[in-house]
Amino acid sequence: MNCTERLVALFGSQAEVARAFQLDRAVVHNWVKSGYVPARWASEVERVTQGRIAAIDIVNEASAKNPVRVKSRPDDAQFGFSAEDPMSQYAPSKRIHSFHPPQRTLMGPGPTEIHPRVLTTMSQPAIGYLDPVFVEMMEELKSLLRYVYQTKNALTFPVSGPGSVGMEYCFVNMVVPGDKVIVCQNGVFGGRMVENVIRSGGTPVLVEDKWGEPIDVQKLEDTLKANKDAKIVAFVHAETSTGAQSDAKEISRIAHKYGAMVIMDAVTSLGGTAVKLDEWEIDAAYSASQKCLSCTPGLSPVSFNERVVQHVQNRKDRIRSWFMDMNLLLGYWGATTRTYHHTAPTNSLFALHEALVLIREEGLENSWARHQRHHVALKAGLEAMGLKYLVAEGHQLPQMNAVLCPQGVNEEEVRKRLLSEFGIEIGAGLGPLKGKIWRFGLMGYSCRPDNVMLCLSALGSVLEDMGYAVHVGDAEAAAHGAYAQMHAKDAARKKRAA
Ligand SMILES: Cc1ncc(COP(=O)(O)O)c(C=O)c1O
Repeated sequence: MNCTERLVALFGSQAEVARAFQLDRAVVHNWVKSGYVPARWASEVERVTQGRIAAIDIVNEASAKNPVRVKSRPDDAQFGFSAEDPMSQYAPSKRIHSFHPPQRTLMGPGPTEIHPRVLTTMSQPAIGYLDPVFVEMMEELKSLLRYVYQTKNALTFPVSGPGSVGMEYCFVNMVVPGDKVIVCQNGVFGGRMVENVIRSGGTPVLVEDKWGEPIDVQKLEDTLKANKDAKIVAFVHAETSTGAQSDAKEISRIAHKYGAMVIMDAVTSLGGTAVKLDEWEIDAAYSASQKCLSCTPGLSPVSFNERVVQHVQNRKDRIRSWFMDMNLLLGYWGATTRTYHHTAPTNSLFALHEALVLIREEGLENSWARHQRHHVALKAGLEAMGLKYLVAEGHQLPQMNAVLCPQGVNEEEVRKRLLSEFGIEIGAGLGPLKGKIWRFGLMGYSCRPDNVMLCLSALGSVLEDMGYAVHVGDAEAAAHGAYAQMHAKDAARKKRAA
């Protein structure tokens, strides 16, 4: 039964459907005739049927029956353009048509695929950033972010800009020129933190670990002992460049023992693995919308505790960035006032709201468990192919799987063929790991069993075709086996609990 038939069955007749939706009968008749309900009715159908018909079913059916096709206007002549038009000398030399991105399976380090509900929400009509409806949505957004960050921090909101802006936001507000800042570096993004410390006028002190290893907490403690005047400890919770996860709770505990504040990069961890700001007593954290939150890129959720807010408010010097000055932005995102600061990216914020509603509906712990489950299956498949993980067991991130490219295999060629032949994007190695690893992301909406199986099967085919001794099918069988074992365990657990 399609959704229109389900609607008629639920309400008894087309006339009753029309009444429930306060529509003309002809409209409902048209839905039935065409076999689908237009996507713009998705949320309304879910509301009116009290969830018995899900919005996502409406969206999926509508997009299958009537895919959105944006068309360029047919003919320049219609607008009277001509070669002699003096402005045409600045026009592009070729005719440019509307852009249609291809459908890809995104299994790299981000961005991820975006849930259809988030895409639909993003394409809703624009409203003003001071519209009361929008302001109400901002409050919901802040409370949903507190949920995913597991914090009661009042100052939790999305900064307009990608994760790098969130990172800079923390450093520029918290580092007073002359401050000593300890940066733990075990990959690309720790290096960027060092840059931020220097540009904010601070003095970085490095705690370096090998790429692919977690941060060594003993080394951190030794460094703090030798630098008792350090004001801040900064670290990356989930190093996207290597797939290594560090012990955030322990890092925070040690930093506080020596009186330093903590900045945590949660760009890749938020929504994918446990992040508990309050329990771990993290002072400041930033993330990004396009990783495990599976939203469009360009927003950076940040969260600051009272200690940081007081510290920034008490600064006697001027923050070195106007756009990022927390004291100014509080006027827009703060608890009481709503005054113009910059034009907020409204439709992206609608999208983030929906992405967070999806996590709330799934349950945060279920989201973490989903990332773990598909990681276990992907890993079983990759290892069955003979591939080795860069990061040791126990420190591997479920959402970022870095494996070593086998000797003699052309790393870049494999990625190119996955993209051109299967539409799958995976990530390459960065810095010293360039040409040495592949990075398989399993983040947010991309973290699904169909992606795991497609990726294993495609990788097996490409590797075999390129002469690497791999038996196509072994990887899928191993992944299926892993799923079966997990299902059996879950079933046994449920039985015991019943
Ligand atoms: C750990 C980490 N920090 C910071 C960033 C920067 O985020 P963005 O690319 O959104 O600016 C990234 C991006 O991949 C990241 O993985």
